[in-house]
Amino acid sequence: MKKLKIILIIAIIIFAGIQFIPTERNISNEVPETDFIKMYDPPENVANILQNACYDCHSNNTAYPWYNKVQPVSWFLEGHINEAKEHLNFSEFGQLSDRKKRSRIKSIAGQIKDGEMPLFSYKVLHKEARLDSEAQALVIEYMQNLKI
Ligand code: HEC
Repeated sequence: MKKLKIILIIAIIIFAGIQFIPTERNISNEVPETDFIKMYDPPENVANILQNACYDCHSNNTAYPWYNKVQPVSWFLEGHINEAKEHLNFSEFGQLSDRKKRSRIKSIAGQIKDGEMPLFSYKVLHKEARLDSEAQALVIEYMQNLKI
């Protein structure tokens, strides 16, 4: 019993301690000209879905609810953001060549269709990112009809 108490106290100290280790925050206050939504001005319902379900990882601006500021959750998320932005960054979409833009658009529709995106671990905490079939169809149709 005493041992358990000591372990618990050590765990609490470690947990409190890691809160002081600074993490990089993915927050940019400006919306650049190269931002996908700014460039193509999709209908509001499509823009909302992208912002609620994708932008946290795939843009230069993450909305951080309190639990995302708590370590080690924030490290976990940070890793996802860095990896996600390498594949697709909505904030810098306009920097891509037209060929790359088209291939990303195709990939977005495909990922949503297959239920691969948003990531499962994200949907657990973010209810607004759980897309029903109607929301999925809306975004897929928009992407398929987007002319670049
Ligand atoms: C929790 C973070 C997170 C969210 C939210 C998220 N993604 Fe991703 N996404 C990733 C990560 C990490 C990768 C790279 C690894 C992989 O493919 O699983 C990725 C990869 C991708 C790729 C590239 C796939 C490839 O094969 O190159 C596309 C396209 C994509 N995501 C689209 C979306 C769309 C569209 C949404 C919103 C509906 C979304 N993602 C939401 C984390 C996320």
